[in-house]
Amino acid sequence: MKITKICCIGAGYVGGPTMAVIAQKCPDIKVTVVDLNEQRIKDWNDPNTDNIPIYEPGLSEIVAEARGRNLFFSTEVDKAIDEAEMIFISVNTPTKTYGKGKGMAADLKYIELCARQIARVAKQNKIVVEKSTLPVRTAEAIKSILDNTGNGVQFQILSNPEFLAEGTAVTDLLNPDRILIGGDTTPEGETAINALVDVYANWVTKDRILTTNVWSSELSKLTANAFLAQRISSINAMSELCEKTGADVSEVARAIGMDSRIGPKFLKASVGFGGSCFQKDILNLVYIAKTYGLNEVADYWEQVIIMNDHQKRRFSNKIVQTLYNTVADKKIAFLGWAFKKDTNDTRESAAIYVADDLINEQAKIAVYDPKVSKNKMLNDLDYLETRPSADNKDYLNAFDNAYEACKGAHAVAILTEWDEFTTYDWKKIYDSMHKPAFVFDGRNILNPKELEAIGFVYNRIGS
Ligand code: NAD
Ligand code: UGA
Repeated sequence: MKITKICCIGAGYVGGPTMAVIAQKCPDIKVTVVDLNEQRIKDWNDPNTDNIPIYEPGLSEIVAEARGRNLFFSTEVDKAIDEAEMIFISVNTPTKTYGKGKGMAADLKYIELCARQIARVAKQNKIVVEKSTLPVRTAEAIKSILDNTGNGVQFQILSNPEFLAEGTAVTDLLNPDRILIGGDTTPEGETAINALVDVYANWVTKDRILTTNVWSSELSKLTANAFLAQRISSINAMSELCEKTGADVSEVARAIGMDSRIGPKFLKASVGFGGSCFQKDILNLVYIAKTYGLNEVADYWEQVIIMNDHQKRRFSNKIVQTLYNTVADKKIAFLGWAFKKDTNDTRESAAIYVADDLINEQAKIAVYDPKVSKNKMLNDLDYLETRPSADNKDYLNAFDNAYEACKGAHAVAILTEWDEFTTYDWKKIYDSMHKPAFVFDGRNILNPKELEAIGFVYNRIGS
């Protein structure tokens, strides 16, 4: 079976870039990305591709090449479902904020809505692909909805989780470590798997395309994120011990990373991991383990989150303690607000929690981030509901450049590892600050010797 038309429901951080790359690499396939969010679709269709709603290095060029040729962004969800032989579900699956499983389980309401819409619209057989990250056995629920509310057509459900990381989405998509496709072992299931394998085979070698049963595929995605986050919490746990013992966490990470069984990646101690997925997916894993009565398994993975929360809090406490136990009315400059460099995504960014702690201490936060607007920062703080929105406005200000943000500050905190921060004239920043001038490097990106020679009191994670 050859796929000629693909629909993707959800034009977010995954749906947008993933479909742009499929469209670029498969010019014979018409790819339509649909979303309920009209503004988002309008932005994806902005004539100037520099204004597309997601910033990822290399993405605007790919959109410029494929959009209007075989890549389309639309709010006409029914039409796109009707046309396509293969439908990707790429909608958000946030942590539930209500009811059973509140604060832990994945909220599957958007997934269910998609399934019901596909069932209602589909007049021919369809392959439905789970691209969103889902609890193991979700395909069962999707299948049940499709079969029980549909028009008597056949549906095959595949699981095809996405492993891209933000900031490197395009290179990850163009050159993935692996593509994972889970499907039924029936002849119809295998036909569907092969149809999706053929799409990816346009640019990914077959030895990197892994096929499994649906449940293994769904669970592998949660497992991969849990293992990655666990490495960060492990090295962050060591960073605290390093601070007490005179060891240096960067040296420890290097030493252990050279063991080929451990490997060097994901061992950077930091102010704590952020992003929309690590916390959400681990909480989901913990919830699933608990529902099967596997309390030790649940506790084991929950510790990764507990450690991460501790690391964020430890960073804000250190700022307060070092600034003579009071930051009230002191200006603290934040360099970075995004959860990592090269993205405009701020979901669960450590910066939000550190700012919240410091505002509780009545500090004035002055932020510069090359890709994040003041509105987004204030929305992030308001979402925590710690205090009235008007108060957040009083305590947080954003600046167009780092030099302005740092002027008159008592301390500078590095929250995101943007490359440009390492290229600044730090002497100029020092001269414009209150003395003693402190730097709290939450990403360990600055050169301690250089900063100390200028006169800064320099603090980094894990030494
Ligand atoms: P997102 O919030 O950026 O995008 C989701 C989009 O789906 C939104 O634009 C929303 O309007 C749209 N949507 C929701 N319900 C809809 C409906 N019924 N019809 C049409 N559109 C609808 O989310 P995201 O970051 O792209 O994540 C999507 C999924 O992919 C999640 O399950 C996430 O865990 C997973 N994932 C994300 C990443 C990442 O880096 N962000 C990486 C791998 C996997
Ligand atoms: C992560 C995974 O890396 C992707 O494989 C996965 O597809 C994605 O989650 C998802 O499912 O959403 P992402 O969150 O975009 O990708 O970015 P990462 O590079 O994993 O970084 C996550 C957080 O960990 C960032 O805040 C980053 O600064 C932090 N981090 C990362 C560290 O503190 N130390 C490290 O060594 C690595």
